[in-house]
Amino acid sequence: MTTRAWTDRPLEGRRVVLGVTGSIACYKGVDVASKLTQAGALVDVVLTMSAQQFVTPLSFRGLTGRPVFTNMYDPQSPLAEEHVMLARAADALLIAPASATTIARMAQGMADDMVALTYLATTAPVLVAPAMDGQMWAHDAVQANVATVRERGVTIVGPAEGRLASGHMGLGRLVETETLLGAVRAAIGAKGDYAGKRVVVSAGGTQEPIDPVRYIGNRSSGKMGVAIAEAARDRGARVTLVCGPIALATPYGVDRIDVKTTADMAEAVRIAVEGADALSMAAAPADFRSAAAADQKIKRTGVSLAVELVPNPDIIASVSGAFVKVGFAAETQHLREHAAAKIAAKGLDLIVANDVTAPATGFAHDTNQVILIGADGTSEELPLMSKYVVAHRILDRVAAMLEQRR
Ligand code: PMT
Repeated sequence: MTTRAWTDRPLEGRRVVLGVTGSIACYKGVDVASKLTQAGALVDVVLTMSAQQFVTPLSFRGLTGRPVFTNMYDPQSPLAEEHVMLARAADALLIAPASATTIARMAQGMADDMVALTYLATTAPVLVAPAMDGQMWAHDAVQANVATVRERGVTIVGPAEGRLASGHMGLGRLVETETLLGAVRAAIGAKGDYAGKRVVVSAGGTQEPIDPVRYIGNRSSGKMGVAIAEAARDRGARVTLVCGPIALATPYGVDRIDVKTTADMAEAVRIAVEGADALSMAAAPADFRSAAAADQKIKRTGVSLAVELVPNPDIIASVSGAFVKVGFAAETQHLREHAAAKIAAKGLDLIVANDVTAPATGFAHDTNQVILIGADGTSEELPLMSKYVVAHRILDRVAAMLEQRR
């Protein structure tokens, strides 16, 4: 298995064919083309005739910097046999938005437009994001066609529920661009170096109630843990994300378990690690909880109030098994020494040390600067980088440990 050097552009060097078909949601297809390009992909856009009633090839050309394909019979085309050439070169085919007509064409194996042709000619993963009126989506004919293409291995992404072009509420909206990007990344990464592996990641801080309206918490945003979940998903892992209350969306394809307290997180992690290949505890579980949380809101009396705190369980120290155990160390001083001491104290294979007082690192930032310290005494000091790239550097180390244990 060749490892790649991951960057902030997760689709770097990948080729995605984006099929856009007739729907009022075509304008969102323009955003999808742009975001795929920003993620590093070479994006070849194919438009049906109906799509061109809603959007022009020029918009896609401008955003992808590449020719746009609209006509099966174009004698000036830069490709000899467009549908075959595009289909063969693709790492993924995403059809977004996908109309009822296009899904019917796919189910029937028809080849009378460039999108349907490309679908028949590709062996790459195919993702279809339907967008249509709610009644149309619910129709037996559409559902039967969806079932047929799904049985043939197509991944159906959405549709989402919400306000439709008709003004009605219902199921039929094109899912958000972020979801589509996640789906493409997951599909392309499915055969990556974590294929067949299960990774458990914790993210965010926990909240320990003092009374029904107040709690003890910390400044963890969950960004580091979510970045690890995304990175592992992008390399083919099945990912379980155990998170405290965070404001971040769940990455596409990741199983999420929401918890509030450290005791809840301990229980969720204990169950999730059964049969897992790796655990990465990026969460910041509260180390203490109130000895007795009040049943009712504590009233202000003007005098000081003492809250007795008792220690919480150490989650990562309390789980063991064949999985690789990665802990984090959030330190404010003596980074290397304090982090290294936690390896033995918590039985870790690797610790990720971050100085949470340094600029642009630690809590809530999109970037982090860490030292990776192994139980074998090795250490690797990384420069400031995005949490997504930090996540890949951690996963590189974990992958090497898993390989050694085989
Ligand atoms: O979420 P972000 O805003 O992106 O911020 C990221 C982060 C700073 C929270 C993250 O990079 C980080 O350092 N996470 C660990 C925070 C922490 O609790 O550090 P610690 O040194 O107190 O704990 C050491 C290890 O034990 C950690 O892996 C922690 O998850 C784990 N732990 C801690 C307490 C506890 N009761 N049970 C645990 O398992």
